[in-house]
Amino acid sequence: MRLKYKRAAAAALAALTLSGCAGRQAEEKLQSGDAPAGTVPAVTSAWSEETAPESVTEALTTSAPVTKGPEAVTTATETGDGYTVYDRSEVRYSIDTVNVRELPSTESKVVGQLNPGDEAAVTGYTSTGWLRISYNGATAYVFGQYFSEIKPELPEQEVVIPEGYYFSSPADYFFIVNKQNFLPEDYAIETDFVQGSYELEIVAAKHCKDMIAAAEKDGIELKVLSAYRTVDYQKKLFERNVNSRMEDDGMTYDEAYYDVSINIAPPGGSEHNAGLAVDIIDKNHWDTYTAFEDTKEFEWLYAHCAEYGFILRYLKGKEDITGYIYEPWHYRYVGTEYASAVMASGLCLEEYIGQNET
Ligand code: DAL
Ligand code: ZN
Repeated sequence: MRLKYKRAAAAALAALTLSGCAGRQAEEKLQSGDAPAGTVPAVTSAWSEETAPESVTEALTTSAPVTKGPEAVTTATETGDGYTVYDRSEVRYSIDTVNVRELPSTESKVVGQLNPGDEAAVTGYTSTGWLRISYNGATAYVFGQYFSEIKPELPEQEVVIPEGYYFSSPADYFFIVNKQNFLPEDYAIETDFVQGSYELEIVAAKHCKDMIAAAEKDGIELKVLSAYRTVDYQKKLFERNVNSRMEDDGMTYDEAYYDVSINIAPPGGSEHNAGLAVDIIDKNHWDTYTAFEDTKEFEWLYAHCAEYGFILRYLKGKEDITGYIYEPWHYRYVGTEYASAVMASGLCLEEYIGQNET
């Protein structure tokens, strides 16, 4: 299950933004992935599939590629997969939860998701209703019906906790995952997207998105660099890093293993495997982790993360206890009930939980 938020909220938003039966359509899209290609004209937002007059479709398919005036015809690009894309550069905003695909077809691979309010850098469109966008530095496609020229005001969203979910109370999120405490065999979570293709556990995801949105309001642009990782991926990440330290840095296996072990958790022993940790840094300098501590983005996160239930997890000076280097980018969701007290204590989670147990 990927779509965890109350559908009513998305439908209400779509109903506000689109005309006619758009709310119902958004609902259908949520169930089916995205709308079928070839039915709706591309140019975003003012009408729905049912309300769009035929003449609009016709206009788009026959003389559509108009940019600056009736005579100006844009250039067209062939994708090489049988699709023609007309160049057009503009910004659009997602009004719903929308799949991002490799090619302009519902048959094509999903490479990510845009959430309501997300900005899309449109670079072109097809006559079948798809927008070509720049997505995480690559070219991708979204269905144009779910995009608006105006950034939507988002209604308050709630997380829908599935029946019999693994976490049954907020206190359940307050536990240790580390080198000594691995995730239990029966650990099972639902995830939701937080930014691009990065996902977190549903409750953590909601809080993380709220945190990123609040930061943005304060002029702080944050970029997620890692979030939920499967245990299998963690294993590959660990091994890949051991190998690269041996091959590229000339370390022995023992040296490489040790160096990796203070940076990357073992499979099953990572908060990322729990879906409760997110690595976030400055959007404009995301190629350097180490300098993050000296940014206003770090200052903002340090000051506000607890309001959203996150703590800075691997503290400077606590390396011997946590077992990891200082990581100013790694934030762990523990819940709003605990995060402020943990942050205020200056203790790492091992110490804090240890002290409160005795
Ligand atoms: N970098 C942290 C320790 C992890 O891999 O979970
Ligand atoms: Zn991390």
